[in-house]
Amino acid sequence: MKDHFTLDDLGIEGRTVIYRVDINSPLKEGTLELANDNRIREILPTLRELLNRRAKVIILAHQSRPGKWDYTSMERHARRTSELLGVDVPYVNDIWGEEAKKAISRLKPGEAIMLRNVRDEKGEMDKLSMEEHSHARMVRELSALADLYVSDAFGAAHRSQCSLVGFQAVLPSAAGRLMEKELEALRQVIDDPSHPCVFVLGGSKFSDAIKVVDRVLKENIADKVLLVGLAGNAFLKAKGVALGKKSEDILMEEFTEDNLAAAKVLLEVYGEHIETPVDVALDDNGKRKDVPLSALPSELPIMDIGKETAARFSDIVSKACTVFISGPAGVIEREEFSLGTRAIMEATVSGDTFSVIGGGHTVSAAQKYGCCDRFSYVSTGGGALENYIMGKPLPVVEALKAAYKRGKGK
Ligand code: 3PG
Ligand code: MG
Repeated sequence: MKDHFTLDDLGIEGRTVIYRVDINSPLKEGTLELANDNRIREILPTLRELLNRRAKVIILAHQSRPGKWDYTSMERHARRTSELLGVDVPYVNDIWGEEAKKAISRLKPGEAIMLRNVRDEKGEMDKLSMEEHSHARMVRELSALADLYVSDAFGAAHRSQCSLVGFQAVLPSAAGRLMEKELEALRQVIDDPSHPCVFVLGGSKFSDAIKVVDRVLKENIADKVLLVGLAGNAFLKAKGVALGKKSEDILMEEFTEDNLAAAKVLLEVYGEHIETPVDVALDDNGKRKDVPLSALPSELPIMDIGKETAARFSDIVSKACTVFISGPAGVIEREEFSLGTRAIMEATVSGDTFSVIGGGHTVSAAQKYGCCDRFSYVSTGGGALENYIMGKPLPVVEALKAAYKRGKGK
């Protein structure tokens, strides 16, 4: 059921649009050049549409967060956006002061500017509600100069920050095309998956994996959950498999007694739907060594799922109708430990399965293996995606819903 406005619902011609995007990108250390422009490419359809429909577009965005090495200006992002769009998008080193106001007043229909990193604004990152943020100076100053607010910031949708949720209370607001696509893909995985539906969960955030397993099995979203990477090792430990000191030390950062207890309960209640590795690959002095679980504990660290597990899991995903993959199966930075991740991804895209991947690491792996384009949907979200999958409301989406209710009530 429709619960937010889209660009189809708004009169855009000649209007001034605040367009909040998430083009927070990995940068190269030292030069701070963009290491990956995926998120910029993903906003182009909305941006083109806004410009073709003769809007005056004010782009709001952030890069990293204060205190981090890659916290920097949006100037490079504006340059890259201009290159990819083929239309100049000037950078304005201000958010709502005189310089920004002047640039906004000079905008003509079909033109866009990109403002300064919004996280330079005091209060931007305060965790406040949509209502509280709507009184912020930035929102008051900018909304007075704009007619509409459009959000494509799915990647930051789990943050209740000023420029992300403050405008929806005061301006007619809609989801951009990217936000629409993200929400539709997730709807197809979470709300209305074709069965069998398989979730492949890996990566390092074991405590999040527990919440996802719980939700997707409790709500009959997934028929099977395949656990790989650290999540796989953690569930093996919960089953009573001693992994060996090195592997267990790596787990300990995330692994608490509470996690262990939660994993045990999940295994008890949903055991038949949870698959853990049947063999693992160890790092034997730089070489891959596949061993069965009976060879554990080992002093050598576990770096990937084993070949037999890779084959079994590949078989399961290739027979599924819906597959969601979050997190690699092994240490993909090393070629010899990429086997598991690669095998599962290739098996997933080999059929006509509806397949979704997300998270920076997972997407870069798919790009490296040349199968990224063959997934049905590649999400720009990392944290936002995980929160959605865990069933947590996303503040940015909630703000768009509130704007829809308000707008429809008028
Ligand atoms: C992200 O990439 O995670 C989003 O842009 C949000 O950024 P944050 O994690 O620094 O809040
Ligand atoms: Mg983040």
